[in-house]
Amino acid sequence: MDPEITDQDEPAGRGITRKNLLKAALIAAPLPLLIGGVPALARAQRSSGGPLAPTPFCHDGDAPTIDQTEGPYFKPNSPERSVLTGAGTPLVVSGYVFNRACQPLANVLLDFWQADTNGEYDNVGYTFRGHQFTNAQGAYKLTTVVPGLYPGRTRHLHMKVQAPNRGILTTQTYFPGEPRNNTDTIFDARLLMNVRNGNPGKEATFDFVLNIAGVPPTSQPPTSQPPTSEPPTNPPGGTWRAGTNYAAGATVSYGGQNYRCLQGHTAISGWEPPNVPALWQRI
Ligand SMILES: [Fe+2]
Repeated sequence: MDPEITDQDEPAGRGITRKNLLKAALIAAPLPLLIGGVPALARAQRSSGGPLAPTPFCHDGDAPTIDQTEGPYFKPNSPERSVLTGAGTPLVVSGYVFNRACQPLANVLLDFWQADTNGEYDNVGYTFRGHQFTNAQGAYKLTTVVPGLYPGRTRHLHMKVQAPNRGILTTQTYFPGEPRNNTDTIFDARLLMNVRNGNPGKEATFDFVLNIAGVPPTSQPPTSQPPTSEPPTNPPGGTWRAGTNYAAGATVSYGGQNYRCLQGHTAISGWEPPNVPALWQRI
């Protein structure tokens, strides 16, 4: 059983630690594509033909124990709104929700909640909490501010994503270049948003992929030719090794390319240099 796929709305309990579950998900996940040196959005993989990997779930890191599905900072019944207002650096997050066949999903519920610019959650009211639905094109857009840091966590946004009559994906998204990304045990590089400077503030993009099979497009002609871009007898390899503690500036080779480490970290399976541009820069 693949916990990443089947456990979207189950607590990470029952004898499985969240960390192990996360690592299992990392190992099981297909390698994401890298487009132009930044994390590839799911929409960029449409042409690949194969099914998309679902967005990893990420149970609330604020939960004091793994038995709690929701941390103390999630509150149900958030107001429907896509603009969350308050002091801080403006942030606009946008993207799409797809099924695994990369078909956009309309009317998907996205419930966002986050800390304010000082790293505090509003547990009395609904400041920086709100839900919205994807439009007919499967798009969403959240206008908010960059969340502040609080002890023990790197910078992150929380969200629940649910297609009509489907399970809930509870997850978080992250910001590239954050020093605490390296020490936060819940952090997952596959949940990094593309972030750039906006006017004003920051603009981020992220596509969610729900574990819904969908119907693959029929316009693609079947082919009996195996793909030629992946020679099975020539695995990537190189000097990069999982389990190695890499310091910023370290260089490795992987898949015939050389990379320089941008942030110190301990390498794990799934974080091969092409997959985590926040950690490795091609040189
Ligand atoms: Fe949080």
